Amino acid sequence: MPEIKGGIALVGSGSATPSQRLTNDQLGLRVETSDEWIRTRTGISERCVCGAGENLVGLGSSAARSALEMAGWDSCTLDLVILATSTPDDLFGSAPQIQAQIGASKAVAFDLTAACSGFLFAMVTAAQYLRTGSVRRALVIGADQLTRWVDWDDRTSCVLFGDGAGAIAMEAQEEGGDGLIGFKLKSDGSRGECLNLPQFQNSLPLVDEKTHQKGGFSTIQMNGPEVYKFAVREVPAILEELLNSTNIASETLDWLLLHQANQRILDAVADRFDIPHNKVLSNLSKYGNTSAATIPLMFDEAVRDGRIQQGHLIASSGFGAGLSWGAALFRWQGPL
Ligand code: ACO
Repeated sequence: MPEIKGGIALVGSGSATPSQRLTNDQLGLRVETSDEWIRTRTGISERCVCGAGENLVGLGSSAARSALEMAGWDSCTLDLVILATSTPDDLFGSAPQIQAQIGASKAVAFDLTAACSGFLFAMVTAAQYLRTGSVRRALVIGADQLTRWVDWDDRTSCVLFGDGAGAIAMEAQEEGGDGLIGFKLKSDGSRGECLNLPQFQNSLPLVDEKTHQKGGFSTIQMNGPEVYKFAVREVPAILEELLNSTNIASETLDWLLLHQANQRILDAVADRFDIPHNKVLSNLSKYGNTSAATIPLMFDEAVRDGRIQQGHLIASSGFGAGLSWGAALFRWQGPL
């Protein structure tokens, strides 16, 4: 861990989801599945899907605005906006569009891609800027519109995903405790093929004998059982490493906040640490897997309904394509 020059406070959160809801029964009109199969295998009952006129920048901006409002910050006081996403509206990046929409005129804004681990990777990245003192106020957004890239005729994957966005406002503070107590991040590209969204292999004639490749992506390709095994092996391992390295006992955690991919994964991780299931945050049933958005979306819901309170200690872990995974321990400060 780098030397900590000052603390970081988590002072605001926000979230947004599209207005269109798709239930399991409705999905059953498209593919051969059932509400019972989806609920028992995943815990998902419905998900939100962007309809006409909705997009990633809109969702991300809306989550950003509500986090700014909770923090009590004027958007022009923001120094940094990091958007964790794998589904930008623009391949060159969507963070600057969000920066413009929320009026964060002096903030630098960029995208960061680490699939479903993206939010934690972005949070840790923002923390590095905050710790060096080069940035005082940062907004970390996790937003994804994976339903753009789902094969709606593949019942093994289309039932899992939904769209959403969440954001957390982080501030450098000279005094007081540190809100980001520790983290671990990992990647393993050698296992990347069990979950990816590859480019089409399209070669077209250019001039003479030369060719060029035409851009375009396929749909989400996933080996569900392999991803499941990866998650139940690596998430407990990285959490254990983090708890050991920070000398924090799992009994002292107020909440376990995992990437919302499958309720069976959440339960398996909680059982590994003997964490009671009522301390495991879950909103999978309403939103499914919203990729980089799941952690801040769940966080914001629990802050707003009063489950997460000032000073609460949260262990979080994200995992997904790459493969990538990570864990972080943080404390909620709330508006200063
Ligand atoms: N409805 C009905 N039956 C289905 C469906 C469906 N939607 N999908 C698969 N089945 C069938 C299969 O065809 C198979 O039938 P068969 O036995 O006749 O061949 C049977 O159900 C069992 O299939 P499995 O794939 O073995 O089912 P499993 O219990 O592993 O559950 C699931 C599948 C839910 C995908 C699970 O493997 C899982 O959750 N994996 C993790 C996936 C994940 O989390 N991905 C995202 C993580 S990273 C990120 O967020 C991008």
